[in-house]
Amino acid sequence: MIYRIKIFIKLLIFFIFRFLYDVNIWKSVLTYYRLHISRKNSIDTISINKIIKWEEVSLKLKNLNLSGGNVSRLEMLIITAFASNLKDGENVLEIGTFNGKTTINCALNIKNKSNIFTVDLPEGEKIENIDRKDDYLDYDKKLIRDLKRKDKDFKNFDNINQIYTDSTKLDFSLYDFSLAFIDGGHDYETVKSDTKNCISFIKRPGVILWHDYDVTNPVGKYLHSISEKYDIKWIEDTRLCILKLS
Ligand SMILES: C[S@@+](CC[C@H](N)C(=O)[O-])C[C@H]1O[C@@H](n2cnc3c(N)ncnc32)[C@H](O)[C@@H]1O
Repeated sequence: MIYRIKIFIKLLIFFIFRFLYDVNIWKSVLTYYRLHISRKNSIDTISINKIIKWEEVSLKLKNLNLSGGNVSRLEMLIITAFASNLKDGENVLEIGTFNGKTTINCALNIKNKSNIFTVDLPEGEKIENIDRKDDYLDYDKKLIRDLKRKDKDFKNFDNINQIYTDSTKLDFSLYDFSLAFIDGGHDYETVKSDTKNCISFIKRPGVILWHDYDVTNPVGKYLHSISEKYDIKWIEDTRLCILKLS
């Protein structure tokens, strides 16, 4: 009898865990936890309807296949919508080109006299050559070595300017940009350097978007360190944060 009760309890536990897994309870708990930590650190969420007038946006989009290292489709809509909102002659600065999907979609939506500057490490760059190699996250090392970086094909886009350098060594004062998308190295020091440079050199009014805000990761830790000073918001249902500077 005791043996049967033990088997019954084990099966019950198994089915309870299986149920919790199926209803995605772990994801909900994690989301709730991240929302709590984010609010505690003065970064509230904002709905996508509040950041942009969607009824005024019309977009051309290309190649929305998902692959590791790229933004989600909703994030792509948001980034390209901001690019399409720029006035003629206002430019985009993207840090972290990867395979160029976001670059191309921004390039398709900016006005005639606008440009996109996109920064990445030289193709084939060895991790050993990066000054902060020990800080680099495994995720970033994988993307730096990823051969998909070579897939970018900008030959039909004369409004894309590829810059091959470590973003922390770039002289941001040389570039005129009103929209910045920070998605290069995701370690604390790189996010800090890219953010400081973007805040210092972006033309006002300007918009800064950060990708990979997972709240407790280095992107989150750095943004929490400046969120008292700047009105940064986390865009709902995305891993993007936004700062509008006037
Ligand atoms: C997540 S991917 C960028 C994805 C791209 N923005 C998109 O939306 O498809 C990050 C890229 O940042 C580049 N990267 C990493 N550290 C960098 C650094 N210090 N300077 C410039 N680029 C860097 C990597 O080589 C990689 O291609």
